[in-house]
Amino acid sequence: MIAPDFAQLELGLDVPALPGMAEEDVLTPALIIDLDAFEDNLSRMRALCQTYGVRHRAHAKMHKSVDIARLQVERGNAVGLCCQKVSEAEVFVRAGFKDILISNEITDPVRIDRLARLARHARILVCVDDLANVAALARAARCQDVTIEVLVELDVGAGRCGVKTANGAMALAQAVASSPGLRFSGLQAYHGPAQHFRSFADRRAAIDQAIGKVRAILDDLAGLGLSCDIVGGAGTGTAALEAASGVYNELQSGSYAFLDASYATIEDENGRPSAMFRHALFLLSSVMSTAAEGRAICDAGLKSQTLESGLPKVWMRDFQVLGCNDEHLILADPQNQLKLNDKLRLIPGHCDPTCNLHDWYVCVRNGVVETLWPVSARGKSL
Ligand SMILES: Cc1ncc(COP(=O)(O)O)c(C=O)c1O
Repeated sequence: MIAPDFAQLELGLDVPALPGMAEEDVLTPALIIDLDAFEDNLSRMRALCQTYGVRHRAHAKMHKSVDIARLQVERGNAVGLCCQKVSEAEVFVRAGFKDILISNEITDPVRIDRLARLARHARILVCVDDLANVAALARAARCQDVTIEVLVELDVGAGRCGVKTANGAMALAQAVASSPGLRFSGLQAYHGPAQHFRSFADRRAAIDQAIGKVRAILDDLAGLGLSCDIVGGAGTGTAALEAASGVYNELQSGSYAFLDASYATIEDENGRPSAMFRHALFLLSSVMSTAAEGRAICDAGLKSQTLESGLPKVWMRDFQVLGCNDEHLILADPQNQLKLNDKLRLIPGHCDPTCNLHDWYVCVRNGVVETLWPVSARGKSL
């Protein structure tokens, strides 16, 4: 765990809190991690993987934190990390992580060169969906005298990257397997939109369809003598389905560690709110104005949270969020209950981009700040 020199930080940098402070005294807006809930989420993911005999490769793009990634490996038993960007992966390799999948296509020649250099220090895997890209990766790997491991990405319904046809997947797998400098390591088959389908039946239908497609391609590859060490996919919404598939062997869930307001809307098999994971991330905010009758204004605006997945929810209090501006959040308070400097925990609509707006996680247990963790790869989008 990184141990920031808090005395030094007090002099030169702003931090929202110091260890030992009461949560009530944290400067806002600040990201709060409820450590008990977070650790519980790690245990739940570990148990899910144990139950089905699959591995977890935790998606670090969600939190971008070296400290959290370490705990996902040490306590959560994750076998490695996923990153979405080379610059993000560089942060984790510098911190000593030895097994990282870039769950994305890397096509820019300069970025490919940086990717290949990383493979000198860690096992590096990357996704492909293009033959020319395979050739470019192989050249870079030979130039750096490294092996880059490659997953062929399938579009299993997400409509994002990945090849749609079995023939396309075979051609790529054969090209990778016959390219010195590269190793064919398997398939990437992530269905992004399915994660957030509210109904369990819709999620199951989408993932059943993905499983069928992956199974057929695995058979075709076996016919060519190509086996897959990794069949990867799954976010937080469908992890249990891929885990139970007998086809996928690596889950890539990230948001499970924090659980945002968007994920809180998905339902279980019985149509109840899914209780697989707990809210562990909050945006702590303070009331800064009650001048308007029936409203309270808080200090958590668009510079501290993103709204593409909807407005935040107020944790354990019955206040409706009416809107959000650059620096302000507007709450309905019909009975004028809120007072200046009251603190409210908000559940962000979408955790990944919200975390990327902050420098620090303030880690809290029983209302007291236990430690601070930097958002180590904040802004690393190259
Ligand atoms: C390829 C890939 N795998 C896994 C995930 C993790 O999903 P979640 O954070 O919903 O668990 C994502 C998120 O967008 C992703 O793009």
